[in-house]
Amino acid sequence: MADNDNDHLLDHSYDGIQEYDNPLPTWWKLIFYASILVVPLYLWDPLGIGVGPGKEKAYQQELAAFNAAHPKAAASYTDDQVAAFAKNPAKVEAGKVVYTTYCVPCHRPDGGGIIGPNLTDDFWIHGGRPTEIMKTVTEGVLAKGMPNWGKMLKQEQVEDAVAYVQTLHGTNPANPKEPQGTKYPSDSAAAPAAAAPAPTKKGK
Ligand code: HEC
Repeated sequence: MADNDNDHLLDHSYDGIQEYDNPLPTWWKLIFYASILVVPLYLWDPLGIGVGPGKEKAYQQELAAFNAAHPKAAASYTDDQVAAFAKNPAKVEAGKVVYTTYCVPCHRPDGGGIIGPNLTDDFWIHGGRPTEIMKTVTEGVLAKGMPNWGKMLKQEQVEDAVAYVQTLHGTNPANPKEPQGTKYPSDSAAAPAAAAPAPTKKGK
């Protein structure tokens, strides 16, 4: 065993048994010192691994920033939610401002339509269900000249605009554009169940 020059035999003996005081191997000591050098990284926390906000918190912060920058998919709303926006006076009021600022050139102040369709009648090209209106406004119909407002406005502004658009329904604009698209609610949906054909997808 004493083939290593560093090995140093301790000068005590128990029942004739002696032991070496072996120095730690160099490779072990290098790993030990290297791991000490890594400690400041944990204190400084560049990766959210140590004392700083931590990975979880950093993730939440990033997610919040992402959600703020990227509007919610129109599909994540329910009809009831979107319909409720139109019953919230604060949202409708804010929506009127959004509408006046961005939508009037194509839909006219009274919603009667000019470049874009009439928003006050019962007829919808892309469906009159609240979520369908939400989808049209969020994603637009770029090929037909309706911008994708979800990319340009804040999520709340899109909601508000849709709230306001819903309140335009049934108003009587001067000089309205002719009806375009399908009726919503469709007549068959309003008819008595016995007379109505098998339910079809509304607004399509
Ligand atoms: C540059 C012109 C333009 C602007 C600005 C514009 N729209 Fe439109 N919009 C259109 C056109 C064109 C259509 C019809 C698309 C089609 O024919 O498929 C449309 C369709 C729509 C529809 C669907 C109507 C239907 O019959 O299905 C809604 C709802 C709507 N716009 C709301 C808005 C709102 C809200 C704004 C403002 C935030 C807005 N639009 C701004 C041109 C515009």
